[in-house]
Amino acid sequence: MQQFEFSDISRMLTPIFARHDVDASRLLQVLLEVQDACHFIPSEAIDQIAAHFDVPRVNVEGVAGFYSFLSTRPVGEYRILFSDNITDQMLGKDELMLYLCNKLWVEPGKVSEDGLVSVASTSCTGLCDQGPAALVNGWPLTNLDRNRLDLIAELIRSRKPVADWPPMLFEVADNIRRSDVLLGQPFEPGAAMRATLARGAKETLAEVDKSNLRGRGGAGFKTASKWSFCHAAIVEEEGSMICDVGGHPERYIVCNADEGEPGTFKDRVLLNSYADLVFEGMTVGARVVGASKGFLYLRGEYRYLLKQLESVLQKRREAGLLGDAILGRADFSFDIEIHLGAGAYICGEESALIESLEGRRGRPRNRPPFPVTHGYKGRPTVVDNVETFACVAKIAERGGAWFAAMGTAQSTGTKLLSISGDCATPGIYEYPFGVTVRQILADCGAREPYAVQVSGPSGTLISWKEFDRRIAFEDLPTAGAFMVFQRKRDMFQTARNFVHFFAHESCGFCTPCRVGTELQKKIMDKIASGHGTASDLEEMKSLGHILKTMSHCGLGSSAANPVLDTLEKFPDVYVRKLKALAFEPAFDLDGALETARKMTGRDDDWAHL
Ligand SMILES: Cc1cc2nc3c(=O)[nH]c(=O)nc-3n(C[C@H](O)[C@H](O)[C@H](O)COP(=O)(O)O)c2cc1C
Ligand code: SF4
Repeated sequence: MQQFEFSDISRMLTPIFARHDVDASRLLQVLLEVQDACHFIPSEAIDQIAAHFDVPRVNVEGVAGFYSFLSTRPVGEYRILFSDNITDQMLGKDELMLYLCNKLWVEPGKVSEDGLVSVASTSCTGLCDQGPAALVNGWPLTNLDRNRLDLIAELIRSRKPVADWPPMLFEVADNIRRSDVLLGQPFEPGAAMRATLARGAKETLAEVDKSNLRGRGGAGFKTASKWSFCHAAIVEEEGSMICDVGGHPERYIVCNADEGEPGTFKDRVLLNSYADLVFEGMTVGARVVGASKGFLYLRGEYRYLLKQLESVLQKRREAGLLGDAILGRADFSFDIEIHLGAGAYICGEESALIESLEGRRGRPRNRPPFPVTHGYKGRPTVVDNVETFACVAKIAERGGAWFAAMGTAQSTGTKLLSISGDCATPGIYEYPFGVTVRQILADCGAREPYAVQVSGPSGTLISWKEFDRRIAFEDLPTAGAFMVFQRKRDMFQTARNFVHFFAHESCGFCTPCRVGTELQKKIMDKIASGHGTASDLEEMKSLGHILKTMSHCGLGSSAANPVLDTLEKFPDVYVRKLKALAFEPAFDLDGALETARKMTGRDDDWAHL
């Protein structure tokens, strides 16, 4: 393994430490920079980082080992990670990855002998509308085909820095196919803030309440209620005079841009082309709950957006829309910091996200207490999805009644859908809630649609018999993913891909999920290899029950959905793969004991027990 001198590491770390406080919540950001500089996290760096933050070495190791974009072993100078969502696989990802590996003389998952390149898979990169996709040193590569891979192999062999590669390789299109009030109507930065300041914080909360806005991150919790709880926590605290140093009880606004659910990419588009709307929604939230600090938690896969997002923030500061005395109001200061994730789906879960913001592994906390009362650094914290904040800005500008007039009774407003899979025009579609699946399939040019995975692997699989169902919290709730599968697709392989995803992304904290997701994966692989039996299906049903009822967080409790849904709606795809046997053990005990029998010279009946 590559060795570094203490002095080399010190030289590399000095400017990195200078960019970050001695606050341990910066740990993940520091590790990301070290990973960039060295292509891994050297052991010597771990020692020095631990000393710098005055934390035990094991804490730094724990964080470095948790996030998939960090590595304590060298990866290639050019690190290529192919997106492994089912939609990428349907577009030929596996074959293309092997093609590139052959061209570069490297085995999948390994580093080339000269340390130049490594090629591996990663969970969905949020580019399903333009896959097969990959990341090279964090930069997105889209629409991959053999021609592009030939060029990429050539660029790598000639050791051309990624920054000098042809820009067309990194083009990421928004692919907005249908717009409504969020994407289709102009927004003047500052309009929502002016309306909020004119109306007052309490009155703005009343408008959000009237709008009946529900969170767009998946769970659909009513936004005004969440904000009221946060506000109530502060009022209660002020009443009992518990304040931070400086006398001001701090509270936080966090925008969840982790967008890790496979098949979801609408937040990517909002951040790329509607960042003002999102930041303005966060600022409205800050005024309502009285926060002076906000974070955008940006998934590592969207790191390429960081620079432009920083520049939007800077423009907003210059326009008096962020920073001290916003729009001249001495009593209102608020600013936003961007915090990068590093490849961990679980960090989208709000309490894991807060752990990650504090520089730790993304391990979901016990709840209650909830983040609204005990969030970032133990302070009241509102965590909302990117799209939720975009809606808030519109509501603050145009009023709650305007918003509530769209959609259905329990699902007001519009919803952004990320459509991918077997359709002519994948991309972003904005619909008023209540639209039928059938309508959406017609609009996106679905080819012989057979099934749709709504809201990603943790959501619901619906068959062609259910295409009259509606996108709404009353019927099919969704965070936005909408993956279309045509008749020729093997729905077993879809479920298997999702099961692998959950096993890979389980944070390992609780046993039902850590073991349950791994067992699900093993059984699905066993069935795929032709060794599955009827008892395996029963086993998966009972595993599903354990996962649903005994997991610590939403990842585990939804990890069985793909298997249970396919078993219910497409049982044939399993039956076709099963052996005639009712039972085949996953472990050959008799075979394993063979060596021991030979060594002891025993072959009697008792030795075979
Ligand atoms: C495993 C897991 C992953 C999640 N990922 C995301 C995510 O990427 N983005 C998001 O907004 N919410 C995600 N959530 C939901 C969040 O925990 C939280 O409910 C949401 O950010 C609240 O925002 P909202 O009320 O605006 O929807 C996830 C939940 C779980 C259990
Ligand atoms: S359910 Fe899974 S992801 Fe959630 S805490 Fe348990 S092990 Fe971690």
